[in-house]
Amino acid sequence: MNNPVHGDLIDGKAISALVLSEVGAAVSALREQGVHPALAVVLVGDDPASHVYVRNKVLRAEETGIRSIEHRLPAETAQSVLLDLIGQLNADPAINGILVQLPLPAHIDETRVLEAINPAKDVDGFHSSNVGGLSQGRAVLTPCTPAGCMRLLEQTCGTLAGKHAVVIGRSNIVGKPMAALLLQADCTVTVVHSRSIDAPALCRQGDIVIAAVGRPRMINASWLKPSAVVIDVGINRIEEDGKSRLVGDVDFASALPLVSAITPVPGGVGPMTIAMLMSNTVRAARQQHISHTQAVSATEQACLTTS
Ligand code: GUN
Repeated sequence: MNNPVHGDLIDGKAISALVLSEVGAAVSALREQGVHPALAVVLVGDDPASHVYVRNKVLRAEETGIRSIEHRLPAETAQSVLLDLIGQLNADPAINGILVQLPLPAHIDETRVLEAINPAKDVDGFHSSNVGGLSQGRAVLTPCTPAGCMRLLEQTCGTLAGKHAVVIGRSNIVGKPMAALLLQADCTVTVVHSRSIDAPALCRQGDIVIAAVGRPRMINASWLKPSAVVIDVGINRIEEDGKSRLVGDVDFASALPLVSAITPVPGGVGPMTIAMLMSNTVRAARQQHISHTQAVSATEQACLTTS
């Protein structure tokens, strides 16, 4: 869908289905080589939203042929127990990807836990080694939500080079990696945050706007350049007219007639995040298989030369 007409919807469900079918084909190819990609999902505590996210991740994994192994731990789990589990998963050659669902209970040091994951199995792309690699433009495992947004933009806009992209929000999970990916795609990038001066004026410069602030309908038409492509990362639950509903960070009704294309909530970025997690898992499995094959062949070579 290149050159979108005004008010196009960017269909995250359809584009994620495309990604998942590519993943399914890659899983089949790996299985023919004797590799069965496997994802370990670790959930600590009983945050209801986290339980829903984890269930969806496990379901999608099964649909694409990825083996998923769930580890559910009680909220009072000691940090040392969680670190031990990560150590076991790191050492298990049958596990290719490790995901620790966030947020973790307050007594657990999130950074310590994320840094304990082997970067080669870090399918969330949160380990500092992968974060550093991304900022240097190396091909590393990349955080799933920003990677999903890039895929939506590539399908919608075609070339991104030279476009002015405005990222609203600077979280480690979305805003910062998003800015790095857009820069790597040769966009001019502005990051707007809570201390920015005149955020609406900065945002109006964007040919591309990525909203990732977590505030329901904060960005309305007055923040947007006509013809902007808008990616709404927000998933906010609100009560309205006596009903509970999900809305984005963008006021969809006011933005839709103005902009060239926009993601709906739900059905935009959400399905892409899970699809990119599956894509990262297959990538990790393929890379680990290549590294293992190379290591075996180097050992064989060494045996031959010494015998
Ligand atoms: N919690 C909210 N988003 C995410 C995510 O992308 N990965 C993990 N591990 N936890 C999350």
